[in-house]
Amino acid sequence: MSFRLQPAPPARPNRCQLFGPGSRPAIFEKMAASDADVINLDLEDSVAPDDKAEARSNIIQAIGDIDWNSKHLSVRINGLDTPYWYQDVTGLLENASDRLDQIMIPKVGCAADIYAVDALVTAVESARGRSKPIAFEVIIESAAGLSNVQEIAAASPRLQAMSLGAADFAASMGMQTTGIGGTQENYYMIHEGRKYWGDPWHWAQTAIVAACRSHGVLPVDGPFGDFSDDEGFIAQARRSATLGMVGKWAIHPRQVALANRVFTPSAEQVAEAREILAAMEQAKRDGAGATVYKGRLVDIASIKQAEVIVKQADLIART
Ligand code: COA
Ligand code: MG
Repeated sequence: MSFRLQPAPPARPNRCQLFGPGSRPAIFEKMAASDADVINLDLEDSVAPDDKAEARSNIIQAIGDIDWNSKHLSVRINGLDTPYWYQDVTGLLENASDRLDQIMIPKVGCAADIYAVDALVTAVESARGRSKPIAFEVIIESAAGLSNVQEIAAASPRLQAMSLGAADFAASMGMQTTGIGGTQENYYMIHEGRKYWGDPWHWAQTAIVAACRSHGVLPVDGPFGDFSDDEGFIAQARRSATLGMVGKWAIHPRQVALANRVFTPSAEQVAEAREILAAMEQAKRDGAGATVYKGRLVDIASIKQAEVIVKQADLIART
């Protein structure tokens, strides 16, 4: 037991992060008009090496020109193992308008990776007199990143969110799959001749959630590659929500509504949570710490569980 309170993550909805390649400016307006809470304009793996410079200038221009409304506006820079990342940072912070909220750092392996970007961002912000500090989101998508996830979550006060990047993670781990998230055909057990599928992403997700919750960072599920499979997306997203993640990426616009639906507590969930809170209020008046709700135990811990749902619903309703 710790006497310190668990830090709260940033109080903003992060149900869906819609991605789009920086080299495809024709979709920027459509991204801005979407229902995603977060927009990630990409300079990294959806942009070919020869297009990096142009993508950078497309993004810089669009940050100022397009009405992004109340969206959390993020740009994914290139990884620290490339020659591009420092120009992504300096290019953005020297030239993009103050509308830019966040830089997303991919393939983070240790806290020092964040320190390096933080040092550069801090220097450019100070040189340019930028008044709004840039937030960070990182992607955990390597064996090293997951091994060091706790120190990464604690690495910078700029850090607001952390995503699991299933494709690069699978490659780094040497996983025998080309799937991006979701059910993996060969990950099953046999019982009495029948197959039962497990979730190979479970450990990575729970490790990320625990690190994030320890340090007041939003835990987010990354891409689901098969954008024709709505049912598969919803199943993956529901597992992530059940484990404590607050949202999921959309790599195609049709996934936005699915993510928003799953990561917005339903009316039934909110009604039940409020009933539990009311039952516990009554228990308190009766001098009891525990009571019965619909034939099951609820106690003081149930208040905290119910509050997770009610607070999330209130946060979403406010914005
Ligand atoms: N954001 C907003 N709108 C998008 C979009 C996106 N990411 N991707 C496609 N659209 C638009 C299209 O322009 C099209 O609009 P229209 O109906 O006005 O013509 C509509 O949505 C349907 O697009 P569709 O034809 O189904 O897809 P596509 O073949 O044009 O593009 C992808 C498919 C996967 C290449 C594209 O969605 C994409 O680039 N996704 C993001 C990839 C990415 O950023 N990856 C990095 C993170 S993993
Ligand atoms: Mg990746």
